[in-house]
Amino acid sequence: MKKYCGAFIKNEREIGLLREANRIVANILDAAAEVIKPGATTRMIEEMAMDMCSDYKVNPAFLGYCGYPYATCCSVNEQVVHGFPNDRKLEEGDIVSFDMGVAREGFVGDAARTFAVGRPDEETARLMRITEESLYVGIEKAVAGNDVYDIGEAIQKYVEGAGFNVVRQFVGHGVGAKMHEKPAVPNFRPAGKGLTLQNGMVIAIEPMVTAGGYDVEILPDKWTAVTKDGKKAAHYEHSVAITPRGPKILSVSDRGLNRATWRNLTV
Ligand code: MF3
Ligand code: CO
Repeated sequence: MKKYCGAFIKNEREIGLLREANRIVANILDAAAEVIKPGATTRMIEEMAMDMCSDYKVNPAFLGYCGYPYATCCSVNEQVVHGFPNDRKLEEGDIVSFDMGVAREGFVGDAARTFAVGRPDEETARLMRITEESLYVGIEKAVAGNDVYDIGEAIQKYVEGAGFNVVRQFVGHGVGAKMHEKPAVPNFRPAGKGLTLQNGMVIAIEPMVTAGGYDVEILPDKWTAVTKDGKKAAHYEHSVAITPRGPKILSVSDRGLNRATWRNLTV
């Protein structure tokens, strides 16, 4: 694989393999949406995801990654990312940010969505909608010749314009044979110049948005990131290829994208 400033440039075959890994991830996200309801547990989502991995004959990419002990991240309410699945019964009004990765034929798929348990209150529904829309606003900037920081700038403007905040402590990333490759893809504009996007790069764009302040802290389990002020957070992630025909979303399930937020993007 060719490299540009440390970022791998994928050919069409490699992008095809990434698309297939990501299709499986997206199908698992769709299945999670069916499981998540009052009375269900995040443990049930973990078990379902593991079962689907064996059905598809793929490996869960998170399990064992830097010692992470589960196949999925299930982050509830004020948990931002990297929440552990557990046996607590989900209640009406909770939200679950579900993040999943698989490895198939040497390539990793990575995507996430936030799901409501029952009917969310109005502010929570708006938090989820703005976060998902901000992902698509960022994807529109995933074009060769743009600075990778243009993505974060667009996400940050959209999110702050709606009165929410973007998390600084975690960022998106290049994705390919490894789950985390260059470049880092922040959801805000850092100082200075970032890497110039090139065709053939594949990046995971993943805005994490808080209803309150953007500060997060890590629980004693060493993984679960929660908002410092205890306000809710949402997280949406797509793996996206940068191509001469524009950004191509790879994490598309057999059911297709949510057209309400898809706008004019192609897959
Ligand atoms: N989607 C997350 C990321 O891109 C998931 C990583 S969880 C881990 O960083 F446990 F695998 F680290
Ligand atoms: Co990711």
